[in-house]
This record gives sequence, structure tokens and C-alpha cells, in this order.
Amino acid sequence: MQTSTTVPPIIDFGKGQPSLSLLPTSALQTAAEHFLAQHDPQWLRYGDDQGEAPFLNALAEFLTRRYAAPVNASQLMATCGNSQALSLCCTRFTTPGDTIFVEAPTYFLALDIFRDHGLRVVGIPIDDEGMQMPALRDALAAHRPSMLYTIPPFQNPTGVTLSASRREQLLAACAAHDVLVVADEVYQLLDFGAPPPPSLATYASDARVLSLGSFSKICAPGLRLGWVHGAPALLEQLMNSGLVQSGGGLNPFTSGVVHSLITLGLADRVLDDLKLVYAERSRVLCEALRDAIPDARFVEPSGGYFVWVQLQGVSAVELLPAARDAGVSFHAGPRFATDDQFGDTLRLSFAHYDSDMLREGVQRLARARRSFFS
Ligand SMILES: Cc1ncc(COP(=O)(O)O)c(C=O)c1O
Repeated sequence: MQTSTTVPPIIDFGKGQPSLSLLPTSALQTAAEHFLAQHDPQWLRYGDDQGEAPFLNALAEFLTRRYAAPVNASQLMATCGNSQALSLCCTRFTTPGDTIFVEAPTYFLALDIFRDHGLRVVGIPIDDEGMQMPALRDALAAHRPSMLYTIPPFQNPTGVTLSASRREQLLAACAAHDVLVVADEVYQLLDFGAPPPPSLATYASDARVLSLGSFSKICAPGLRLGWVHGAPALLEQLMNSGLVQSGGGLNPFTSGVVHSLITLGLADRVLDDLKLVYAERSRVLCEALRDAIPDARFVEPSGGYFVWVQLQGVSAVELLPAARDAGVSFHAGPRFATDDQFGDTLRLSFAHYDSDMLREGVQRLARARRSFFS
């Protein structure tokens, strides 16, 4: 009899997205039915530039509650998620050839968006409290950036959160040099029990700071719905883009469904469920790493999606082929670098797999690492 060997599917720790089983199809069915039953044609027009007022009001109420800090609907604008909002900020607030500052390391796909806009990127080092202020001040003295991009809560890739005192220092330093701060807060609401400091835009309503939020990580990325939070004068500049003037306010139909999701109390329920699942997955991944790779260096995250793991003496890029042979994958540190750094570091996401798969993935990683040295 012929036996068939099944190759185990790759466990890809690079996937920074929820498992299909976590996507809230039932809650969205309820919200969509509620929304469609209203037969309200308002949501099917070209959208208002800022977004539909009922959605912005419901979002302001939701954020005020979940941030425990006041958010006014006049400070919100609907977007198609943080990637699109970031690109729109680049379109409206930078010119090709400009310099912008980012954290080193930073979200690799944001680097691709900046490249699309012809921007020169300068990386500012971080530590366990986020961007280092002396390095930022030195860089501000040496360059004239038009924008600073930061991921303050549970950063991608490191999981680090910008501390409250650094937030104030960062805003003050950028204000002194008239630099726009764009805070990508896609993980702001995904804490595992201890919320991060408030959203950057809640620090100073008149500052040149825009906080970008999204339903991608707190509900479902396929919604392509998010928001920009900031001073109305800055939002006005985004609304005056050709994109919004031609196509109207962004994503009105989906914002109608999400309006129902929020007002029916389902957005809270979905978010609370996700937080419990991610907290458990993060715990399982870190425990498995400690057991199987005791010399791996990492800080256990307190929110977000990622663990940033240093394997001293190992080139993450060179480890990848052995890892794939063992049935596991990840993003290597250099993908997140603005220069030649993080060669021995791996970004592991715990969002995409259940506990058993996470443990199995770590076993495979440990095996790959052993074979790398043999
Ligand atoms: C830091 C960061 N910004 C933005 C995104 C994408 O956000 P959105 O789906 O809202 O475009 C991600 C997704 O992984 C992310 O990690």
C-alpha cells in the first residue's frame, strides 16, 4: 500500500492579521440587517467630506468611553483605514524628496507607503519607553522633517508603548520645530488589561498631531474603515484633497453598518472578546518561547499583535530557509529597519493562530534554530 506523507502547512508568524475564526460574522450580520432595514438612502449618496454625521457621533461616543478621554465628533474624519489615511497624510502634508522621521524599527509597510510618496526616511532609535528623546532632538537639529510617524501604543514590530512623559516631550519637540506628528494608533484599544496612555490627539487639541485609528484590528480588516482624529483645521486639509473632493467622504456605506454595530453595543462586545483571545495567545506564545528557546530575548507584550524576539548570534534572514524547511516562517528584523539593523531579530505575530498552532510553531522554530547551528 502506498503511504502519502503530508507536509505540514507552514505556520507563518509573519501574518499580522486575525485568524478567520475571529472575524465577527454574526455581529456584522446583525449590524448589517439593522442598517439595511432602515432603508435610509443617506448612506448611499456621495459621502459628506468629513464622514457621515451619525457615524462620527457614534464613533466619538465609543472612543470617549474606550479611551476614557473626551473625543468630539468635530475632531474626527472617516477614512478607509490607517494605510489609506497615512497615504493621504503624505499626499497633503509632504512633498516628494521631503524627510520624515520614523521609529527604528518601524512598521515595514508604512516604509513602503513613504517610498510611494518619494520621502526620505530617517530612523530614530527606541527603547522600552518608545522613541528616545535625545536622539529625536539631535535629529531635529540636523534635519528639517515635514512629518514624524510614530506608533505609540504596542508598536509594530516591537510591542513597545510610548510612555506618557515621552508623549509630552515628543509633542513639545515637534511643536518647537513645526513638525506634524502622525500617530498610527491601530493597536490603541488592544491592551491586555492595562490601557496605554491616552491617544496622542487627546493630549493637545490645537497641536499639529493627527491620530489614526482603524476598525481593522478591533473588528475586521475587510471593513476598510477607520478615522483620523485631530484639530478641525488639519482635517480640513485632508478633506480638501482631490481624493475626497472627487469621490466624496470615505466609505459611507460601511460606516452605516459600523454605526449600527456601535449603537447596538456589538462593537464593544467584539473588541472585548478579541482582547481576551489576544491576551491568551500572547501568553501562550511567550511561554512556549521561554520553554523551547530559553536564551531568546524578548519583552512579553501588554497589548497589540507582536513579540519582537532577539536570537543572539543568529542571522534572522539566514535562518528563514531552515525555518521554512521546518514548516514555520516569520518576518526578519531587517524588514523593519531604516538602515542596517536588527539582523538577529524576528517579529512573531500571535494574532493568526490558536494556542496549539502557536506552540507547534515555536517547536518548529526551535528545531530550525538547532539545525541552523548543526
Ligand atoms: C502599525 C500598523 N499600521 C497600519 C496597519 C494597517 O491598518 P489598516 O488595516 O487600518 O489599513 C497595520 C496592520 O498591520 C499596522 O500594524
